[in-house]
This record gives sequence, C-alpha cells and structure tokens, in this order.
Amino acid sequence: MISANEIRQKYLKFFESRGHKIIPSAPLIPENDPTTLFTSSGMQPLVLNLLGQPHPSGTRLVNSQKCIRTQDIEEVGDNRHTTFFEMLGNWSLGDYFKEEQLAWFYEFLTSEVSLSKDRLYVSVFEGDVSVPRDDESAGIWKKLGISENKIFHYGVKKNWWSRSGVPDLMPAGEPGGPDSEVFYEFTEVPHDPKFGSECHPNCECGRFLEIGNSVFMQYQKQADGSLKELPQKNVDFGGGLERLTAAAYNDPDIFKTDFFISAKKVLEDEIIDDSRGLRIILDHIRAAMFLIDSGVAPSNKDKGYVLRRLIRRAAAHAKIANCDLENGIVTLLTSAFVNEYSNTYPTLLKNKKDIIDEIENELTKFNKTLEAGIKLLGNAPSFDLYQSYGFPREVIEDLYEKRNIEFDENEFEAELKEHQDLSRTASKGMFKGGLQDRSEITTKYHTATHLLHAALRQVLGDHVHQAGSNITAERLRFDFSHPDKLTNQQIIQVEELINQKIAEDIPVTKVEMQKKQALAEGALAFFPEKYPDIANVYSIGGFSKELCGGPHVNSTAEIGSIKIFKEESLGSGTRRIYARIV
Ligand code: SER
Repeated sequence: MISANEIRQKYLKFFESRGHKIIPSAPLIPENDPTTLFTSSGMQPLVLNLLGQPHPSGTRLVNSQKCIRTQDIEEVGDNRHTTFFEMLGNWSLGDYFKEEQLAWFYEFLTSEVSLSKDRLYVSVFEGDVSVPRDDESAGIWKKLGISENKIFHYGVKKNWWSRSGVPDLMPAGEPGGPDSEVFYEFTEVPHDPKFGSECHPNCECGRFLEIGNSVFMQYQKQADGSLKELPQKNVDFGGGLERLTAAAYNDPDIFKTDFFISAKKVLEDEIIDDSRGLRIILDHIRAAMFLIDSGVAPSNKDKGYVLRRLIRRAAAHAKIANCDLENGIVTLLTSAFVNEYSNTYPTLLKNKKDIIDEIENELTKFNKTLEAGIKLLGNAPSFDLYQSYGFPREVIEDLYEKRNIEFDENEFEAELKEHQDLSRTASKGMFKGGLQDRSEITTKYHTATHLLHAALRQVLGDHVHQAGSNITAERLRFDFSHPDKLTNQQIIQVEELINQKIAEDIPVTKVEMQKKQALAEGALAFFPEKYPDIANVYSIGGFSKELCGGPHVNSTAEIGSIKIFKEESLGSGTRRIYARIV
C-alpha cells in the first residue's frame, strides 16, 4: 500500500513536472511576525507573494508545510483532528487558474493516489452580495466527470477561505477568495442522524472527509470593508497529508496512517483500545516534538504556554489510563516519531535528545503541580484546577470521582464558557491575518536586528547565531547562542558598533542569488532550510549579509539610534537582548 511519505513525494513530483518549483517548508514559528503564534497553513509564509510581491522561485510553487492549529485542540481525540499536520500546497501567483488547478488535483487523486472517482464529491461557492456564484468551477468539475449530484454549493461559511474566516471577519489588507473543496466518502461509515437528517459533504458525522481545498485567492479586504480584486489571480491549494493518506487507505481514522503506527505500538501495552486519550497522547507528543525542534520551550506565555498545555494534557490523559509517560515512554514515543519524520525533517535527529529532555522536565514540573492541585480538591472551585493548574477536564472529573467528591458540572460549564469567550476575544488580536507588519517602525527594527546580529558576532565571536527574533512597534528582541552573560563593557561595545554603522548611513541592498552560493559567501540565515534555492540576500555594506524576506530600510541612517535596555539568559547557552530605537 502507498505510504504517507510516498504520497508527499508523488505530490511534489507531480506538480514539479507541471512547472512548479519545490520550496521548503517554512519554520513552524513565523519569523518576525508578531501577529500570529504559529504557521497554520501553507499560504501564510507566502502572503506577501499572493498580494503581488514576486517570489524568487517564480509563479508556480509547491511544498509540504508543517502546520500547527491549536484552535481545534479540544476536538483532538476523534479520528480526524490533530494539532500538528502537514499541508500539501501548490500555488499559482498570477499564473494558471481554475481550469488547470481543478484538473490537476483531480488527476493527482485518481491517477497518482488511485482514489476511486465514485467516492469523490466536490463543493463550490454559491455566491453572496459581493462575489458571484462560482459556476465556472462547477462547469470544470462536470467536464472532469463529476456528476451533478456530487457537486454541492455552499455559502461563505464553507466555501470562502481567508485566514480569519468569512469576509466580515477579515481585517483590512488580508487576501481571501471563494474556494472549491474535494471530499472523500467512506461509504462504510453510516450517516449519524445526530448531525442532521440528510448527509452531505460538509456533514460532521464522519462519512465524508475533506481532502483538499483550492482557494481562488483574488480579493483583498479594504479599509472601508469592501473586497477589491487583487492585481493578480492566485490559486492557493492546501490538502492535509494525513487525510489524503486516510482516503488512500479507505479508513477514516488518520491515527491508523503510517505516521502513528510505531508510536502507537509503544502505547499498546499501556493503553489498549483506540481511545480518545490514546489519540490525544499521540497527537500532543508529536506536536510537542515539532515545537521543541523549532526552538520553543515550555513557559507560561504564548507559544511556550501552548507547548506546556500539550505536554500536560498528554500526561494527564496518560494518568487517567494509569500509564506513566515518564519511565522511558516519552523516549520511545519521541524516537518512533523521529524515525518516521527525520528523512523529511533532519533537524529532528540532531535535536532528539533535547526534545526528550525538555518533555521530561515538563512532566516533572507537572507532577509537582499535580500534587499541589490534588490537595485543593474539594476546597477550591474545580475550574481553578483547569485554569491555574492546567488539568484537562477529564482529569478533574476523574480525580473527583476517585475521591467521591461531587463534581458540579453546571458551575464548571459556566466558568468554562466565560473563559473561552475571553480567550477568543484575546486571541483575535493574535490572528490579525498573519500579514507581516510592514510599518515604518517595524521595518527599522528589522534592519536594526541585522545590525545587532552582525555586531554581536564582531564583539563576541562567530559562534553567535540567531536563535529567535521578535519585533513590535516598541522594541526588538533577539535571541542568540552565547554561553555567558554579557559584561557591561560588551553591551556598550555592541551598542556603539550598531550606532556607528547607523551614523555611516550605509545603503541596504537586496540581491537574488543561489542559496548555496549565498551561504558559501558567509550569508547568515536563521533557518537556512526555510529558503528556496534562489533567495533574497540583504547586505549592509560589508558589515552584514543575511538571507531574508525583508522588508528593510533603504539606508541605515533611517533607523535613528539604538539603545540596548535588557540582556538576560534563556538557559542552555542562549541569551536574549532587548533594544529600542531612541
Ligand atoms: N489556505 C487554504 C487552507 O488552509 C488552502 O491552502 O485550507
């Protein structure tokens, strides 16, 4: 049977032979993009190109993108939701459009993955006040051989795609458009009337699985709320690799795809059935592995908090099943996932030990919290255990039950709803659309970050490498490898060197070049594997040279002057510097 790794490979080759350049997966942590926590779709790193900025690899691109979506974390445990997934993606940046896209995807599914065409259903946009009904796509599907009764029309909730959802929710500047989805029908799964009297492709009963989405991204939301046609018509296709594999196996359970097989074996002696808990553990440990590989450490904020929650939820579900994730199980699980993925993502092999250590440390911390939390049972509101101690609901109920204390479900539900409403409001700010902030001030900070990186290397040595970067309108934050605390003298030297380069008013230049050549010439790159074979290189005279997506100031004097106001340790040989423009 075809493996998931083969499907990935076939997809890349299929589109390569139709003129697409294979581009690498961007990092899971978006670089210099404070508007969003994680890369959650293949198009996210390409937003600027979809809006018109030329891409160095041309107008036809294809890749397999690592993604994390945590909005659905509570859904994980059924047979098709995961937090981490790989999205196969192909893009036309103002090149081909509906005709080619739909025909190629259909050919890929039926010829390369050998899906039976009888099991395929499609959906198209039914139109709304500002965008017409997509009769063109429906016509193309018919020509391809999909019968009329398998073509469904839906409105903006189902057949419109933007990162923020329906047009009304899109912030100004965000691109989006109508889409056409393909669904696979698992005829062996009976319709569950709980989800409605009639089954249809978007029914949630599990009979249908969405396996691909072609977005015709041709609109941009304007400040006055209207939708304006983009200068170029784009295709943004995304399809979940595991879902496609599930369709190829004709088994709706994506936890039965090969990515999970050996990890599942590790747990088989501990947790026998295909329970929700088992799937949660598998999903969360895999996501934690990829996050730690991307440089995230557990903490109480943002990305670190998500990672902490994933590890703790996995541990808690293991405890419910009387399985202790320590005792070597984390090592075995991580090793199984590393084996499965390291050909595609080689950094996993290098970081394996750190990943295991980081998860085990967090488990130790969780156990301590658990002891403290257990003492609170019956003496504090159950919701405190959820919110402050990070216990999943099932664990709280289980603790309560084992100790014969009554669990007040209504009180818990009420508090949970209030908490979810609050966090939804808060997270809106986090998902402004994934548009990189291109304001004047953040552009200045971006160039200042390159100057800081070069200055640190000059003052401290060439072992200094970027380990992270975050820019807001108020400051820059830069993480880098260095074993010791910086002395005051060193901080002053770094700051003076940056300000000297600013005073010299050096032009910032951009050239497109072969990545290999750029690296050989000493260009720095935070994640070299992120960049396509031909990439943009930004230079600041002979002082700094980096592979980078931009944007940057034209000349260094535009920055003003830089003040370093904080330097601290991030542990394990990594330091963090904060600086602001004064
Ligand atoms: N951006 C679309 C999605 O995430 C298609 O790639 O579904």
